[in-house]
Amino acid sequence: MRKAALSLVALGLLLLLVAWYPRYVEKPAKDGAGPLSVYVDPSRPAPEYHSPLDWWQTHHMDVLNRGDLVQSDCLQCHDAKTSCNNCHSYVGANEIVP
Ligand code: HEC
Ligand code: HEC
Repeated sequence: MRKAALSLVALGLLLLLVAWYPRYVEKPAKDGAGPLSVYVDPSRPAPEYHSPLDWWQTHHMDVLNRGDLVQSDCLQCHDAKTSCNNCHSYVGANEIVP
């Protein structure tokens, strides 16, 4: 009787482990997979200053901090939630508050 109860507990723990096992989450990328995917309204063209994109990904903060552009310029095309903060929370940068 005791053995049966113990094996039930063990089975329960095993099921919890499977249910809570950490899942691999794709890093934020434009049109990537998973909850961190960066989404930009496809009807909007990318502005010229985004090119080359890999430069822009690592330097947009300089342009903003210098004041060449302001945050509200960005939010015309970007939704802060789905195309700034999903990446910012991943890299540990400050949250963009619209
Ligand atoms: C006219 C619309 C528009 C404006 C304004 C705009 N963006 Fe973008 N942005 C886009 C589009 C479209 C893409 C996707 C480009 C691509 O996939 O080639 C993009 C991509 C990005 C990316 C790269 C995302 C990734 O995962 O690679 C970052 C970062 C970004 N924008 C930041 C900004 C910032 C900061 C500003 C304001 C200074 C801004 N954007 C203004 C349309 C815009
Ligand atoms: C694909 C990833 C990604 C996306 C999308 C993204 N950023 Fe960033 N952002 C970064 C990284 C990386 C940093 C640098 C963090 C650091 O140096 O500590 C940064 C830094 C910044 C900073 C400087 C923050 C500070 O504390 O100095 C600003 C401002 C900024 N981003 C604005 C935006 C805006 C506005 C958007 C949306 C339009 C955006 N970012 C979208 C990756 C991203």
